[in-house]
Amino acid sequence: MTKTIAFFDSGIGGLPYLIHLKNIKPDFNYVYLADTANFPYGIKSGEMIKEIVLSAISRFIEITAPDVVVIACNTASVITLPYLREKFAVPFIGVVPAVKPAASMSENKRIGLFATNKTVSDNYTDNLISQFAGNCEVYKYADSNIVSFIETKMFESDKKQILDFLRPAAEFFIEKDVDHVVLGCTHFLFIDDILEDLFPPQIKTISSREGVSRQILHILGESNAAAGGSIKNNQVEADNAKNCFYVTSETNREYYKKVAAAFRLQFAGVI
Ligand code: DGL
Repeated sequence: MTKTIAFFDSGIGGLPYLIHLKNIKPDFNYVYLADTANFPYGIKSGEMIKEIVLSAISRFIEITAPDVVVIACNTASVITLPYLREKFAVPFIGVVPAVKPAASMSENKRIGLFATNKTVSDNYTDNLISQFAGNCEVYKYADSNIVSFIETKMFESDKKQILDFLRPAAEFFIEKDVDHVVLGCTHFLFIDDILEDLFPPQIKTISSREGVSRQILHILGESNAAAGGSIKNNQVEADNAKNCFYVTSETNREYYKKVAAAFRLQFAGVI
């Protein structure tokens, strides 16, 4: 039977992760839930995030019966992963900031972490840094306005507007002289190329996208030959599987319909 992979985020941030896997395994069924009723997560308390994620994930699993659930949101993964694994039988894969690979690839041992307010301030992230980047200076930057801009406006903005929005973040990392910037919020994978335009060539961005695809394939017992490859952009290949995009509120319905269509997912309404 065709495997169903469920991706979840507070909004559209998980789509680059879905697309990465879909380009490797186009024949799986892909279902996506954007918890638009509760977006943004990054400025909420841990308790609140636990409650809303549990409620959305329960409905999502009930409706789609997936073989694996990817919490394609750093903020939700950092806060809820152990808890979700206890509650549900289906395997969960989380997304955490790629601090470990960044620390090992950094030559000057100065790395940046670009994430939500919640992710940069959570103990989980401090532990991740002391465990895997103890030999590096780590500079953190959060801006909830950028996350909201990507969620609600980016697809209708021109490149100049996007560049203007991102410039202060880019300048922060340039000034700190980092050589790697960890994209620790899934929404930032949409602006990967644009950030690289703002950065000098010695600053590279790094995400957990390849690692997550590899882990999904491993859990499903599938070959992962292409998972570490160079599929980096968000381009969508033709597909023939059944792919659905759900939201949790009627807000901006027409906008989300357009986003779903751009990623070749069928808009399936509110759950
Ligand atoms: N995309 C989410 C993440 O990776 C967070 C966005 C939000 O603040 O809701 O952390």
